[in-house]
Amino acid sequence: MSETGKFILGDKTVEMPVKHGSIGPAVADIAKLYSQTGMFTYDPGFTSTASCESKITYIDGDEGVLLHRGYPIEQLAEHGDFLETCYLLLYGELPTANQKADFDYRITRHTMIHEQMAKFFSGFRRDAHPMAVMVASVGALSAFYHDSTDISDPQQRVVATMRIIAKMPTMAAMAYKYNIGQPFIYPKNDLDYTSNFLRMCFAVPCEEYKVNPILSRALDRIFILHADHEQNASTSTVRLAGSSGANPFACIAAGIACLWGPAHGGANEAALKMLSEIGSVENIPKYIAKAKDKNDPFRLMGFGHRVYKNYDPRAKIMAKTCHEVLGELGIKDDPLLDVAVELERIALHDEYFVEKKLYPNIDFYSGITLKAMGFPVSMFTVLFALARTVGWIAQWKEMIEDPSQKIGRPRQLYTGAPKRDYVKMGSR
Ligand code: CMC
Repeated sequence: MSETGKFILGDKTVEMPVKHGSIGPAVADIAKLYSQTGMFTYDPGFTSTASCESKITYIDGDEGVLLHRGYPIEQLAEHGDFLETCYLLLYGELPTANQKADFDYRITRHTMIHEQMAKFFSGFRRDAHPMAVMVASVGALSAFYHDSTDISDPQQRVVATMRIIAKMPTMAAMAYKYNIGQPFIYPKNDLDYTSNFLRMCFAVPCEEYKVNPILSRALDRIFILHADHEQNASTSTVRLAGSSGANPFACIAAGIACLWGPAHGGANEAALKMLSEIGSVENIPKYIAKAKDKNDPFRLMGFGHRVYKNYDPRAKIMAKTCHEVLGELGIKDDPLLDVAVELERIALHDEYFVEKKLYPNIDFYSGITLKAMGFPVSMFTVLFALARTVGWIAQWKEMIEDPSQKIGRPRQLYTGAPKRDYVKMGSR
């Protein structure tokens, strides 16, 4: 017999089916609530709302657990590479050696972008923020790759998926090169995904570029850590855009736009700016006091998370990666790292942060790591977008393949003026 829960709303008692997932909290299925009671639920920010059923990523925020298709993030980051995680997110299982080789080959063969797009890039101001360039140029892919925008055709969906994962590094590197006034570097197919990206960012045509394998591995791990994160704001944006039948390139562009905000992916840029602003360990107490002051809008960037009320498991791996990268580059005295380590120590013991369960999140250490690798602050969120693209597209794919999928259409609590008659200009 199926389980139900009872809701008592005013003088009405309604029975709602309770659905259980494989792990995690059950949900009350309220789809019929309006037809039975004439009431909607009200949940701004969706703090108690499951917007879909998904088999891709599971988070236990209280325990600090993150699983992709059941596999802990720590194990994926330690043993696999980014494209393996991509395969896993898209298809549900870890690839065999042959499947992995085939997937890598297919992605690699899609890394070039339409030559006309270089002209498209040159329409931007040189000083444009690379995220602005990414929002526009990823959206523009639908203008250049019309033959993979018909979402009702499974083959076109596969091609669009491959294209978007493969072309993101090329476009991200182009956004960077354009900004600094250097020529675009074409992808090189004998390099792995992340080494190729490093080369497209940091090589110049006049000399050979040798990829540092330790940095490449570290960046690849950073990509794994950012690959997917359940129904976060940008992923929900992609799903909502996709629910209307929009093409995948347009949906990913919408996801990039959402990611840009400082409460989401923009936090890595904001966290590094904050560490620079704090400047030295002596200034930390002043900033901690600001963060705790209710009348001050300042927040410690890189701290807190909507879902994690424990240490973000990605932040732990990120901190380790950060130390590895600084070690490899021989950076012994990075004042920003000193500030970060001390800030983390203080915040983890401060009553305000402990009580509100505000732990460092992934963005806390990623900025220091990316800066040490040579990326400017403005590229941080672009790198997040590059890696999250696979999560977005996997979630989009899952939604499109779900026969019960329908357009997302939330309702509202209307608090505006009730019906009134138009007043002519002269009588106002
Ligand atoms: N510094 C100081 N106080 C904070 C912070 C912070 N970073 N984060 C939350 N709080 C306080 C907040 O003022 C509130 O206090 P009160 O209950 O007294 O009003 C309480 O903690 C709960 O905060 P909230 O804003 O209601 O929680 P939320 O779940 O809506 O917000 C968040 C989550 C990530 C937006 C927020 O913690 C934040 O703004 N953090 C800084 C930005 C950041 O690092 N974002 C990256 C998130 S991880 C990467 C990603 O997913 O994109």
